Amino acid sequence: MRSRPHDYELLDLGTAGHAESLSDAVVRGLTSERKSLPCHLFYDERGSRLFERITQLDEYYPTRADEEILRDRAREIVAATGPPIELVELGSGSSTKTAPLVDAILELQETLDYRPIDVSRAALEWGADSLLPDRPELRVRAVCGDYEDGLARLGPTTRRRLVLWLGSSIGNLTRPDAAAFLRRARRSLAPGDAFLIGIDLRKDRAVLEAAYDDAEGVTAEFNKNLLHRLRDELGAHVDPDAFVHRAVYDVEDGTVRMFLESLRDQIVRIESLGLEVPFTAGERVHTEDSTKYSLDEIARLAEDSGTTLERTWLDGEARFSESLFRRG
Ligand code: AVJ
Repeated sequence: MRSRPHDYELLDLGTAGHAESLSDAVVRGLTSERKSLPCHLFYDERGSRLFERITQLDEYYPTRADEEILRDRAREIVAATGPPIELVELGSGSSTKTAPLVDAILELQETLDYRPIDVSRAALEWGADSLLPDRPELRVRAVCGDYEDGLARLGPTTRRRLVLWLGSSIGNLTRPDAAAFLRRARRSLAPGDAFLIGIDLRKDRAVLEAAYDDAEGVTAEFNKNLLHRLRDELGAHVDPDAFVHRAVYDVEDGTVRMFLESLRDQIVRIESLGLEVPFTAGERVHTEDSTKYSLDEIARLAEDSGTTLERTWLDGEARFSESLFRRG
């Protein structure tokens, strides 16, 4: 429970959930020639819990590397941004990542407004609950809605905005879509405002494929959560164990692709949608892309989004990056 409720404010835009519904996505994705399902469908309650477990796996280095950079470089990042700062965050993520930045900012200014934007009210409140205690100088003004709507509704500020987009969430977008998103998002910012974006780097296939296909099978379960949702929410006649999880690194594209692969010829009936979906043995449903960047590709992302890349920080093993992009 929050001890100082006046320090938490929520603006609910009612735009959360604009993403395509499960049934629309299934009809579109499973009737097309190359079957696919959109990765936002992973994150129901069970899927979100499975993702939390992924972030704690030995093989899944991105979360630890992201946290390491933010912890060790918080002061440099804040100084490079230039206070006084108003902190915005896309996707509340875990505030264990945000806390070091909040504290580094509060070393340089008396008060701080933190403006997390997320589609989940629960995630927003949970983040506020973990940051507010012991920080009387902090005020959380959360926005519940889609990123772009949330950014557009931040309102005026006299401070410089630093927009965090951590955890390599950008990896779910193709390179052109990532640049287009930033190009649009920067229009909601003032000149001199900045983005800090956590981006996973290109690396050896073995490391990447292990990160997305862990020994314990948690990522497989996360991927198969889509089949659980088909069965439980749409009444699909589908056995999750008739599919296998695949994670393949396409070195040329620098992208890890995840699939659900049918182990045999089978027909998945979804009566509620009037659908019969035939699979041949070995046929794949494409469920997620995780785009990896080289440092050159990060520079190109800045060019293509009309921002200036000011600085990039790496973790000790150079697996992951945080980059500061300035709106000119
Ligand atoms: C949440 C998009 C950052 O791509 O690393 C992790 C999702 N999928 N394991 C990633 C994910 C399988 C994750 N992101």
